[in-house]
Amino acid sequence: MGLGYVGVTAAACLASQGHDVIGVDPNATKVDTILNGKSPIMEPGVEDLIRGARTANKVTAVTSIVPEVAQADLVMVCVGTPSAADGSHNMTHIAEVSRQLAVLVKENPYSRLTIAYRSTIRPGTIEELIQPIFDGVLSSEADRIELVYYPEFLREASAVQDFFDPPKVVIGTKTGAPCKVLDEINEGMKAPVFYVKYRESELTKFVDNTFHAVKTVFANEVGRLCVQLGISAAEIHRIFVADTKLNISPSYLRPGGAFGGSCLPKDVRALQHISRSTGGSAHLIESLIESNEAHKSFLFNYVTKELEFGASVLMIGISFKRDSDDLRESPNVDLARMLITAGYQVSIFDPHVKPDSLIGQNLGVLSNSPFIRQLLVDHPTMEGTSWDLVVDTRGTASDYSITARRTVDISRLS
Ligand SMILES: NC(=O)c1ccc[n+]([C@@H]2O[C@H](COP(=O)([O-])OP(=O)(O)OC[C@H]3O[C@@H](n4cnc5c(N)ncnc54)[C@H](O)[C@@H]3O)[C@@H](O)[C@H]2O)c1
Repeated sequence: MGLGYVGVTAAACLASQGHDVIGVDPNATKVDTILNGKSPIMEPGVEDLIRGARTANKVTAVTSIVPEVAQADLVMVCVGTPSAADGSHNMTHIAEVSRQLAVLVKENPYSRLTIAYRSTIRPGTIEELIQPIFDGVLSSEADRIELVYYPEFLREASAVQDFFDPPKVVIGTKTGAPCKVLDEINEGMKAPVFYVKYRESELTKFVDNTFHAVKTVFANEVGRLCVQLGISAAEIHRIFVADTKLNISPSYLRPGGAFGGSCLPKDVRALQHISRSTGGSAHLIESLIESNEAHKSFLFNYVTKELEFGASVLMIGISFKRDSDDLRESPNVDLARMLITAGYQVSIFDPHVKPDSLIGQNLGVLSNSPFIRQLLVDHPTMEGTSWDLVVDTRGTASDYSITARRTVDISRLS
């Protein structure tokens, strides 16, 4: 359903694998082009596959849904979800195609369809828009439909290659259980497969595309800065991407604590200053400290949800990271301050922070935040007390035998 870049590529590739494919699209020009053995889109390799599939009688195209669709093993929905005026996705085509499929199944009593949506749709669309359309038309027979969200990760210009060798396969079902038909279609694919519930699968594509946008914007902000400073952007890029330990890697990508410590906040602020003073408008870099502060506020609300005023709170970890005594710009000091200000009885356990051994700037942090010294508790006190809340900034709470009504690990959001 839908013969745009995604639909035509899928039709061509599936037909080339020997599947019998019917392409449906109201655009008569697209349909005629396919029937003539040509591709309605410019995409390397697609026209050859369509020509071959037409010759082998493996692909056909129609301008409206035909009864044969009711017998399909799999229906793939690839209709467009363009931007609406308010920036949201326009769901008109998704709703229309769902209604058409629901009516088709209703009119064909023996039809059972697995319908995989490939269009990009916001989290909640299957449960709040698509499923109700099927329920409305089919009522008690809605179980004749298996709805799957199956995001597409191909890139235009390398779509055929990406179709056969995607970076990953994400299959969203009601319970997170596998989908038999898609498993058969994807047999032999090398990509990692993730079976998740609808909402996780729906969000994946947005996160990917937004991250790609972040990478592009970041690269260009750094590039602009280099040009303004008379530094080779190409050299900086070459050095940056060669670091596959900290830069081009999963490091620093896990949702959890805010950034802090002696380097990141200081150096980000300094780069912001350099950028401003050289006339750059590096909006992404400019937003980093502000966004980090917003995250600290979020974490405070996250851990104190439904926590009564005056409750006892144990924080595990006060330095900026595990196995360190460095308190400089530690987001955990900020969190402790917010908890105290909000009226909670805070205690802190951090075996690496020994107030009497701290020197230099760390000692300065202790003078500015004297509560740290007062609130530190030792191991026996931590294990011998019953806490209303444990805020685990390290992910190590389970290493101890702590009695707590609730434990929240902020080192990894779940
Ligand atoms: N283009 C990409 O690289 C890409 C990659 C991954 C995901 N996506 C997502 O996949 C979806 C499709 O993208 P696209 O680029 O192929 O869109 P597109 O605009 O090229 O094609 C969409 C097609 O759907 C057809 N259509 C509309 N209503 C229909 C109906 N009721 N029945 C059948 N066909 C109908 C349109 O006529 C059009 O030909 C979008 O949600 C997009 O965000 C696109």
